[in-house]
Amino acid sequence: MDTLYFDHAATTPLHPDVSQMMSTALTENFGNPSSIHQSGRQSRKAVDEARTVIAKSLGANDKDIIFTSGGTEADNLAIIGTALKHQDKGKHIITSSIEHHAVLDSCHYLETRGFTVTYLPVDETGVVGIDTVKMALTDETILVSIMMINNEVGTIQPIQAIGELLKDHQAVFHTDAVQAYGIVPLDVEDLQVDLLTVTAHKVNGPKGIGALYKRQAVKIQPLFYGGDQERKRRPGTENLPGIIGFKQAVELFLGEELNRQAHFQQLKTTFEKEVNTIANITINGDEDKVSPLICNVSFLGTRIEQVLMNLDLDGVFVSSGSACTAGSMTSSHVLKAMYGEKDERTLSAIRFSFGLHHTEKAMIEVVKRVKQTIERLRTLAN
Ligand SMILES: Cc1ncc(COP(=O)(O)O)c(C=O)c1O
Repeated sequence: MDTLYFDHAATTPLHPDVSQMMSTALTENFGNPSSIHQSGRQSRKAVDEARTVIAKSLGANDKDIIFTSGGTEADNLAIIGTALKHQDKGKHIITSSIEHHAVLDSCHYLETRGFTVTYLPVDETGVVGIDTVKMALTDETILVSIMMINNEVGTIQPIQAIGELLKDHQAVFHTDAVQAYGIVPLDVEDLQVDLLTVTAHKVNGPKGIGALYKRQAVKIQPLFYGGDQERKRRPGTENLPGIIGFKQAVELFLGEELNRQAHFQQLKTTFEKEVNTIANITINGDEDKVSPLICNVSFLGTRIEQVLMNLDLDGVFVSSGSACTAGSMTSSHVLKAMYGEKDERTLSAIRFSFGLHHTEKAMIEVVKRVKQTIERLRTLAN
């Protein structure tokens, strides 16, 4: 049986062009970018060129891009780095209850270091209200971190409006744009953000490489020490094949974000039409402010682990929430924030996320298999 991979919000397959660039880099770009001989200079040039492309994809200056090991590290650097550097101005941080664990756990760590964190609630649409940010702000607030697109339900957050709200406030504004990258044209000036996280493996690039945009005027404390790389903000010999692969992945979507968005929207419309033929389901998250890449569906009355296991046997690869918690089968903190812990929708939600190679036919086939599985499990339960 052929398999249907519908978990692109967890990670995407490497694009063949990326893979080709990386294999060349693995053998040819072995020089250390810090070495001054020709081999080192060749590698330095490759890093600089990649930095220019990533900067362009965010409407940023090259100097403001810090390569990291991925989204998790970029989020940690943004949050912990800002908090430690700005603590003389206050010790209050605002984030939302639906952030990725990279943000939530960084905030939890800071709480153990004497910072106070406000975790903004969301309503059933899964969107952070701009008023809640306004109400939570104090003179002590030094950082606001709100994600651009939620990775579990796909809801789009009002980043530009929050940027506008914070324009005259001391708080540094960070957004985790991991799930928006590649499908939303990003411009750090329009968004008025100071820090922004992206990662390569969600856009058909390699795992283990990402970047943090940092506005030049904003100071952060590094998390690592031991070298001059990345202007001392993230020392360590650069992950050259990763950086080269990241650049190639970005070049493939640069300027094409809206076309990709339209492509995914078309697939999602077909998917939703088909999935609506299954009885007793809900599609979770705001109807309009939602990513075309993610569809979160609750199959009421079913048990997530049983559904996931059976879908896996049927060759359908999906997730019950964020990849980090999927293995542990704890119910999603995002759905808990939206509906409450015991709500049937929280207990039976599956995330389908779409990818570049998907077709309309794949949408119809995946729902056909899901429908059979759900109906079989429901019959067995009765
Ligand atoms: C919204 C969001 N932020 C951060 C991350 C972490 O990125 P990485 O896997 O590159 O560490 C992910 C990945 O699941 C994500 O979806």
